[in-house]
Amino acid sequence: MGLKKNPSNMNQKIFIKTFGCQMNEYDSNRIFDSVKKIGFDKTEHYEDANCYLLNTCHIRDKAKEKVYHEIGRVKKIFRSKKKPLVIIAGCVAQAENDEMLKREPYIDLVIGPQAYHKINDTILNFTRKKKKIEETEFDAVSKFEYLSKIKNKAGKVSSFLTIQEGCDKFCHFCVVPYTRGPEYSRPFKQILDEAKYLAGNGSKEIILLGQNVNAYDNEGYRLSDLILNIEKLPEIKRIRYTTSHPRDMTEDLIEVYKTSKKLMPLVHLPVQSGSNKILKSMNRKHTIEEYLNTLDKLKEINPKIEFSSDFIIGYPGEDEQDFKDTFNLIEKVKFINSYSFIFSPRPGTVAENLDLIERKISVERLEKIQKILFENQIQMNKSLENKIVDVLVENLTDDKSKAFGRSEYMTSIIFNGKKSDIGKIVQVRIKESTRNTLFGEIIHNLDQKVA
Ligand code: SAM
Ligand code: SF4
Ligand code: F3S
Repeated sequence: MGLKKNPSNMNQKIFIKTFGCQMNEYDSNRIFDSVKKIGFDKTEHYEDANCYLLNTCHIRDKAKEKVYHEIGRVKKIFRSKKKPLVIIAGCVAQAENDEMLKREPYIDLVIGPQAYHKINDTILNFTRKKKKIEETEFDAVSKFEYLSKIKNKAGKVSSFLTIQEGCDKFCHFCVVPYTRGPEYSRPFKQILDEAKYLAGNGSKEIILLGQNVNAYDNEGYRLSDLILNIEKLPEIKRIRYTTSHPRDMTEDLIEVYKTSKKLMPLVHLPVQSGSNKILKSMNRKHTIEEYLNTLDKLKEINPKIEFSSDFIIGYPGEDEQDFKDTFNLIEKVKFINSYSFIFSPRPGTVAENLDLIERKISVERLEKIQKILFENQIQMNKSLENKIVDVLVENLTDDKSKAFGRSEYMTSIIFNGKKSDIGKIVQVRIKESTRNTLFGEIIHNLDQKVA
């Protein structure tokens, strides 16, 4: 892999705009770690950029049109300036590939999510020969081998670490198996090395990522093994993982909730629907009874555990009873935080051509679902008022007057902390709450006490 700096790229600035899931965020950070090697610096202002990279998501709605719309905006801004190098990366790039170069000549390079190891060479090639290129091969092995060599420079208190990519489940509504390719688990040692590097660079929390993170399997090593090994790193105080599939919630992973000291007690387990009929038609490969059985086992092994989920509302064939089943499931489980979306037909998926239910009905159902999900969230936060919670401090607020951190359940907390609290776990007494945020006062610094 040619990593030589090209003098023509020295002092160039790249602006990266990221849509979609945490894996895209991880990828964007790693793309930056890579292009730094050929002379690019990051800018947060895209009018200053010589290179504009859009890391796209294809999961819902008019993803493709959004990209062309965004390019239109960039074109306008750069009308009277030198055109930047325009790169489309991510899941739309994978789905559309060279179609994008044909439709929008303003785009220079199209790079799919498993071809980022080629990004430096592709840019250098373009700057030398002005050759437009589309790179959309699935090659997860080379991608991660390359990324492991250039080090993860995230250096944040809470850092993402992708351990698994792609999906073999083929839920009938989902584009991910087509945009991210087949399931691939990174080598166990490669992940532990990256975790050590992150820990050495100031990370206190590691969030393990994968489209099917709990399907991780590398030569018999499972997600549970990764958790138990990463928690041996003394700098790491918290471990999380996302997103998991209910079918892959294996006994060894459930058991870790008893043995692990650092795995957080929030389990995000997308269920999509409360109706067995709809789950079958979605090809989710489990029933509601099996799902609830898994939640029961988790709760039994660690009563502190709370749950969050994803829901698709208005899936083709969803009748009033199916919707009630979803509503009842939410009432029963009392998820503390969830995402809910109206079904969006995706190109190339089995559900693409199924008959849609009336939009008005889907919107009404989504409103009802969100109302109850939000009420659960408000109640959960309200119940914490006057209680003391452990907070991992991530940063100061924008105006630097307060500190920002997260509870064990990922809830944002704003309190009267200071810069020296960043990276520590502190205790905060909660005074007030809203649906998304808790506000409180620091009462005790656990790290200082230990020291
Ligand atoms: N792998 C995870 C799982 O098995 O649940 C989901 C990953 S997907 C990137 C994130 C969420 O997007 C899904 O849980 C689902 O709720 C939502 N989603 C995916 N395809 C969708 C579609 N066609 N329409 C609406 N929501 C969709
Ligand atoms: Fe998409 Fe998740 Fe289903 Fe895979 S398991 S197809 S990522 S929803
Ligand atoms: Fe979107 Fe691709 Fe992630 S479609 S949700 S960016 S895997």
